[in-house]
Amino acid sequence: MIVQTINLTKRYGKLIALNNLNLEIEDGECFGYIGPNGAGKTTTIKILATLLQPTWGEARICGNVIGYESRKIRPLIGYVPDFFGAYEDMVVQEYLEFFASAYNITGQQRKRVVGDVLELTDLTVKRDALVDSLSRGMQQRLSVARVLLHDPKVLLLDEPASGLDPRARIEMRELLKELRNMGKTIIISSHILHELAELCTTVGILEGGELLFHGPLEEIVARAKRGTRVHVKVAEQQELAGKLLKRIRGVKSVAQQNGALIIELENATHDFTGIAKTLIQNNFRLCEIKEEEVNLETAFMRLTKGLVQ
Ligand SMILES: Nc1ncnc2c1ncn2[C@@H]1O[C@H](COP(=O)(O)OP(=O)(O)O)[C@@H](O)[C@H]1O
Ligand SMILES: [Mg+2]
Repeated sequence: MIVQTINLTKRYGKLIALNNLNLEIEDGECFGYIGPNGAGKTTTIKILATLLQPTWGEARICGNVIGYESRKIRPLIGYVPDFFGAYEDMVVQEYLEFFASAYNITGQQRKRVVGDVLELTDLTVKRDALVDSLSRGMQQRLSVARVLLHDPKVLLLDEPASGLDPRARIEMRELLKELRNMGKTIIISSHILHELAELCTTVGILEGGELLFHGPLEEIVARAKRGTRVHVKVAEQQELAGKLLKRIRGVKSVAQQNGALIIELENATHDFTGIAKTLIQNNFRLCEIKEEEVNLETAFMRLTKGLVQ
């Protein structure tokens, strides 16, 4: 286990920003940390980055305890904050050389390392451009480049895609995929679930400082899907059809929406024979029957509404 938190708690005065957080993240995992604004994502990431002291509990990176062994931890991590500082008068190459020096990378090695991260983050063509003149997407990639210089094992990325246009988001995602494939352990936060779907293997859903879910991405979708919803259209007498369907075993509820009946089933199933049979046997003309697609956003909304079981 590369990152572990045990009852990690952070208070700001009376506000409990993080409440008994227990996380376990394995080597090479890409962990999506999802939650609405104010959930406590930045607080967690800052603690893991050794920049903030927990009020209670413990966090470890590669077995080293944050707050006690922070000096051992810092070379192991690369932290990209949710803002980009100002460096008006520096060009990209100088900027990276400056940070490389801060990590005690010097001489030929520094040239090589800076060249490598420029290449990896697709910024080689911008090496002589002023940092301030870069687009927001490029600045974000430069922030990632900066934390790759010392080749850390763990990357802590706080909403790296926020404020980016769609194209820059895709470029950022591709970069992160590459880093994941290089074997880095990645912790990335976002308030948008689908943004992380392609990238992450596991996710944690945080709300109000509480971890609502922690596990594989597929599981979260499966959980949210529990209780399939089916859309049914009949040619006439829809209300009557609804009343009839309500009586079938396994049907939890029936509602009308946009000219269709929305049937909520108790269990996840793809078999709607019972519904079809009932309608046909009662001489309804069945026009349409289909399962509602559960997209990740719906799943997320259901889970954060306290529907996690
Ligand atoms: N320095 C601080 N002082 C007081 N309250 C804070 C401070 N930083 C964050 N908070 C509060 O803690 C909660 C969690 O914030 P944060 O970790 O930034 O959430 P997120 O990154 O998920 O949006 C919020 O209610 C926020 O207002
Ligand atoms: Mg935040």
